[in-house]
Amino acid sequence: MKSVLPLTLLAGALACGDPTGPQTPIDGKKIYDQYCARCHGFDGGGVPEVPAANGRLNNAILMQQKSDQQIMGVIRAGKPPAMPGFAGEFTEAKLMVLTKYVRELSLPTAGDAKPAASE
Ligand code: HEC
Repeated sequence: MKSVLPLTLLAGALACGDPTGPQTPIDGKKIYDQYCARCHGFDGGGVPEVPAANGRLNNAILMQQKSDQQIMGVIRAGKPPAMPGFAGEFTEAKLMVLTKYVRELSLPTAGDAKPAASE
């Protein structure tokens, strides 16, 4: 009974999970929707299953008190025990784009403020 092979395969799969090259634009919404929305909701307002996260990321007053560095710090370290840390999960560039997107969630005009995409 040797279980070495499956473990090796798993480690390999985890290690090469991100083929993103420098040419690929980083999509903050995509990262947020994948990693954060299950607790914070797609609009930052939270989900019923995680009451502690309700009304935070969409709260302009709360979010304005935080610097980008503080937001990135929370994402890296998490907020034990309620929020897991994501240190090592994102490159520095992704972290910055994600933080920018998180900020947009609490802008009063979120959704309307973006310039219309050119066809
Ligand atoms: C498992 C649920 C969960 C996930 C996943 C999660 N969070 Fe959180 N997050 C929370 C909870 C709960 C809090 C409030 C914790 C507290 O203050 O005690 C929080 C707090 C925060 C805060 C601080 C807000 C404040 O009021 O101080 C930020 C910023 C944040 N999360 C961003 C993110 C981002 C960005 C992601 C995705 C990378 C993410 N979170 C993923 C549950 C989660």
